[in-house]
Amino acid sequence: MNEITDNVLNHSASPTGGVVGMTRFTARHEVVFCVADSGLGIRETLREGHANIQDDQEALEEAVKAGVTRNPLLGQGNGLAGTRTITSNSGGEMTLVSGHARLNVSSAGSTVVDFSSTRQFPGTFVVARIRTDSRVPLDELLSLPSRTGTAQDIIDMRYEDPHQDAFVIRLLDEPDGFGSRSAGRALRVKCNNLLDANPRYPVHLDWSGVTMVSSSFADECLGKLFVEMGATAYSARIRHRAMAGLVQALVDKAIMQRIAQVMALVGSKRGSSVSGDNLE
Ligand SMILES: Nc1ncnc2c1ncn2[C@@H]1O[C@H](COP(=O)(O)OP(=O)(O)OP(=O)(O)O)[C@@H](O)[C@H]1O
Ligand SMILES: [Mg+2]
Repeated sequence: MNEITDNVLNHSASPTGGVVGMTRFTARHEVVFCVADSGLGIRETLREGHANIQDDQEALEEAVKAGVTRNPLLGQGNGLAGTRTITSNSGGEMTLVSGHARLNVSSAGSTVVDFSSTRQFPGTFVVARIRTDSRVPLDELLSLPSRTGTAQDIIDMRYEDPHQDAFVIRLLDEPDGFGSRSAGRALRVKCNNLLDANPRYPVHLDWSGVTMVSSSFADECLGKLFVEMGATAYSARIRHRAMAGLVQALVDKAIMQRIAQVMALVGSKRGSSVSGDNLE
């Protein structure tokens, strides 16, 4: 739900924001949530990076593919693809309505319908139905990097006392949570400010109690921080404590995707300099 509401904030340009609702059907073992906005619609935004898209049907079919985004410098194209994967693998489904088309995806396959002759949905409407009685292997389905070791492996005991020689940010205390790009950006700015405040101190991120973050949050905060700082400074000054395996896998994936993107940029610019600023 964070991914889909984040899309409203990042893409829709809806003057009135969006509407979100969620219902849990205990007896049916289902959770259903809907997110709607009256913004630009998927075809309009996706055309920014995919000028060849012909109509609403094609835009919806493209938008749910992994890696498809209107702007690879802003997003990674994980949100809708991940939602599709989670809903259909749980035995549920996802429906997208935007402009003149409706796309439905479930484990049975996908169907796309054009209703241009009858009506139009000006904006974007997403319905996700997730079954709660099945186990969904998230890291496998979302192609997250394999996990090794335990949470203890990444706790740096030298800085156990937060009052000595390190800054400590407890993620659970962060007011914006860890579901959106804007929360990721806020935390990245905070890390940068602390790193500048005392160049001798590392920043310890304490993930105690955090079981899940959104890919967008991981990318906006740590994917971009990694590129801005460079691998050596990042590993020297950013430490993670008590990070759950799934969170670690999501963060690793975000960082690896940013590295791949920078390598591609460096290649295309034939050696001209690339910094984190290029990613904004
Ligand atoms: N509510 C929306 N309004 C307009 N366009 C949208 C909306 N939601 C998604 N899109 C379009 O669909 C594309 C794919 O969305 P998706 O969530 O999969 O990736 P992303 O948001 O670009 O990147 P990420 O989710 O990894 O941060 C977006 O780039 C955007 O063009
Ligand atoms: Mg998204």
